[in-house]
Amino acid sequence: MNRFAGSEFSYRVIKIILGSLPLLIIAAAKAQTGTPPVYSNGMVVCAYPDAAQAGLFILKKGGNAVDAAVAVQFALAVTLPEAGNIGGGGFMVYRSAKGQTNTLDYREKAPAAASTNMYLDAAGNIIPNMSLYTHQASGVPGSVDGMVEAHRKYGRLPWAVLLQPAISLARNGFKITAHLAADLNRNQADFKRLNPGKAYFVKNAPWQTGDVLVQTDLANTLQLISAKGRAGFYEGRVAAQLVAEMKTGNGLMTLADLKNYHSKWRKAITGKYKGYKVITMPPPSSGGIALVQLLHAVEKYPLHRYGYNRDSTVQLITEAERRVYADRSKYLGDPDFYKVPVDSLLKPEYITGRMASFAWAQATPSSTIQPGSFAGYESDQTTHYSIVDKEGNAVSITTTLNGSFGSKIVVNGAGFLLNNEMDDFSSKPGTPNMYGLVGGKANSIQPGKRMLSSMTPTILEKNGKLFMVVGTPGGSTIITSVFQTILNVIEFDMDMQQAVAAKRFHHQWLPDNITAENNALTPEVKAILTKKGYKILDSGGIGRVDAILKTRAGYQGGADPRGDDTTAGW
Ligand code: DON
Repeated sequence: MNRFAGSEFSYRVIKIILGSLPLLIIAAAKAQTGTPPVYSNGMVVCAYPDAAQAGLFILKKGGNAVDAAVAVQFALAVTLPEAGNIGGGGFMVYRSAKGQTNTLDYREKAPAAASTNMYLDAAGNIIPNMSLYTHQASGVPGSVDGMVEAHRKYGRLPWAVLLQPAISLARNGFKITAHLAADLNRNQADFKRLNPGKAYFVKNAPWQTGDVLVQTDLANTLQLISAKGRAGFYEGRVAAQLVAEMKTGNGLMTLADLKNYHSKWRKAITGKYKGYKVITMPPPSSGGIALVQLLHAVEKYPLHRYGYNRDSTVQLITEAERRVYADRSKYLGDPDFYKVPVDSLLKPEYITGRMASFAWAQATPSSTIQPGSFAGYESDQTTHYSIVDKEGNAVSITTTLNGSFGSKIVVNGAGFLLNNEMDDFSSKPGTPNMYGLVGGKANSIQPGKRMLSSMTPTILEKNGKLFMVVGTPGGSTIITSVFQTILNVIEFDMDMQQAVAAKRFHHQWLPDNITAENNALTPEVKAILTKKGYKILDSGGIGRVDAILKTRAGYQGGADPRGDDTTAGW
């Protein structure tokens, strides 16, 4: 018996079940405090406790990692409205127990009526917030099609079984954490302003930790998806509700846009770092290419000897990031619309050549770095989850609405939030988006095109065997957080939990500064770097990495202490 069995659950049932599984609770506690627990039968690490339990429930029922991933995607759509979604999109990197790899691109697409200059006024200036908090900010959602497609290809349990936990959580409600209560309270004014006449997520008195959030309209939408699969979302009642919502705010999405949306299997980007193989997301993510470039750029340096976040380490990583993000701005975009020079960008000689201008004596000003050539931040909510099953199949998924709660517009009657992913396009060449990222033609808006992403769901192998499953939210900082987490384990001998919790820093070419979490860099390191010309700014939490490490003893989780992130395993 489990809390998710049947169509209803009660908190008394949860209590009894949790009471009978004390090991699970100890494990969750340990994840926060130090020694990570290990599991041999499978594990879920994700950003909300109830969603982690939903995934574990599916694994215990005999579901594989993809089944659990589908359950977690839908459960997060209920429990983590900031980022979990059915109105957004994402990327999945998959590695089977036998070592076959694949990636699924369920990123949103620009509606057919979108156009290159749609966010510019007559004078050619960006109209503030139009790509962020309007009905025109949304791309055509990909999450439901992505889950249907992932399940069709790799799933084992019946589809409806995978939707059940999410439906229960939406219909019966779940207790909200302090983080979620604070996020809901912070957004009350926006929810009211952007959703006149609707009553989603708003409350007269402030939300409190432990309040029960019930989402009946969302439960009904999920029920339709459960019964009809793709058609339950992209056609029929929900599609009509979405298009009606668009009409209330000059939104562009049509029934045809919805019907024409299809996710896409793409060949993984792979690379090597020392004895490890990196399996990661290809374009329209910039993350995979950037991650492989970064790893190659630092590979020949003795990072282990320099030490974690010591001045040489920070300087080297910063200089590598500066060059890689410059390339991102010019060459990365949707490969279905723009010829991304993947092979050239990943050539070892090219990456080494890019580092030739790096000198230890002084910072290289970003103004002197251009994209290479060769022949031929409150608003930070996305979510990542990592899953392994009993057989050793692994799933790494990052999914998002883009900003926190996306456009903050809820589809009336259907109860789900719309993304504001259109802001990930380059609205105007050289003008930064909400993450300060600049771009040009490769990432210009075109009908049906996917906006460039930084999401970097990744899987690592060591000696041909599964080694790590890793990823994070964080907009432009995603790539560096994944990069640093990998280095923390491989170079700095941290366990998975330490590697995830360790303080991070970030550089993205433009603006030309290092942003660092509180206490990420010692005063001495800061002084050395400042003297060399680096500008260092304080930053809030960078990323929420959720990862799994395969150790000799079993699967070891790393759940980011910056959020409500949780490990659940057996
Ligand atoms: O795809 C991207 O790169 C962004 N839409 C991700 C946004 C994000 O990570 C926000 N959360 N922290």
